[in-house]
Amino acid sequence: MKVGVLTGGGDCPGLNAVIRAVVRRGTREFGFEFVGYRDGWRGPLEGDRFELGVDQVRGILPRGGTILGTSRTNPGSIEDGFDRVRKTFDEDGVDALVAIGGEDTLGVARQLSDTGFGVVGVPKTIDNDLGATDYTFGFDTAVNIAMEAIDRLHTTAESHHRVLIVEVMGRHAGWIALHSGIAGGANVILIPEVEFDLDRVCGYIEERFRDRFAPIVVVAEGARPKGGFPDQDDAQTDAFGHVRLGGVAHWLESEIEERTGKEARATVLGHVQRGGTPTAFDRVLATRFGLRAIEAVERSEWGMMTALRGTAIEMVPLAEAVEELKTVPPETYREAEILFG
Ligand code: F6P
Repeated sequence: MKVGVLTGGGDCPGLNAVIRAVVRRGTREFGFEFVGYRDGWRGPLEGDRFELGVDQVRGILPRGGTILGTSRTNPGSIEDGFDRVRKTFDEDGVDALVAIGGEDTLGVARQLSDTGFGVVGVPKTIDNDLGATDYTFGFDTAVNIAMEAIDRLHTTAESHHRVLIVEVMGRHAGWIALHSGIAGGANVILIPEVEFDLDRVCGYIEERFRDRFAPIVVVAEGARPKGGFPDQDDAQTDAFGHVRLGGVAHWLESEIEERTGKEARATVLGHVQRGGTPTAFDRVLATRFGLRAIEAVERSEWGMMTALRGTAIEMVPLAEAVEELKTVPPETYREAEILFG
């Protein structure tokens, strides 16, 4: 059997570990051949591919990014997109596809699977917001990077008696903010799921200064004040219609200075959170997903994706993965709120 592999959407530490496990097990145990498609769905759309074998996946386990490249290209938004993808697979003699991606890539994978093509999905996102799996690889690495940044910011904040605001990724889900904020001992954590009250945030900041310490505010890029921002009409969107966010930390910086009279500075971690080598947890999870995904191809478990349930890797329908976003439950946020100030 010849199997295509692609990685789509935002990159994420651990993608190479999945590719490596898929190719190694597929080649050694099942005798499969592999075709790597470049840059997500752009590869099969434009026929951009290369032969992928054990030699190509040597040494990639600790490397961040993806050797296949990635993009947010959406065949669903292009005329004849799916026909072109199927035509490439026919030309290449590819019988099945392992699609590694987040909500969008897996949504396309599901549509392709509905056309009768054999697809198995592997979930990835640093945001950890896919419903069907307890954790996605990449999240642990992102949280550790953000935590380390917060640890460093504590000492400089205290030396200068400043408020330091750290903006982390998370458009709709505040998992990175919540976990890195708890792990880093942040004094306020703001997430997209719960609109924040600026007076309350300033109250926590003043409380922290009263204790002779400097406050650290961790804010997810998608967090909003009550009532929203003045306007975001000009925001750019990608092929899947996602708004490009960023800027909440700088907005907070001036609002906090104005309201508290304290000096405030913003740090936007941005893509640093997605780069570099994966943690041990992410390498293991990604490897286990890859091993199970190629077994699913062997068993013709089409339209399914790997998922972590407790400590077991299970196969669940792709439909389930894209059904709803896993956001931070209000009660989980309230638990952390006890520590604010
Ligand atoms: O979905 C993963 C993610 O890292 C989000 O947290 C973030 O909002 C987005 O991707 C950024 O996308 P891009 O790299 O395309 O700017």
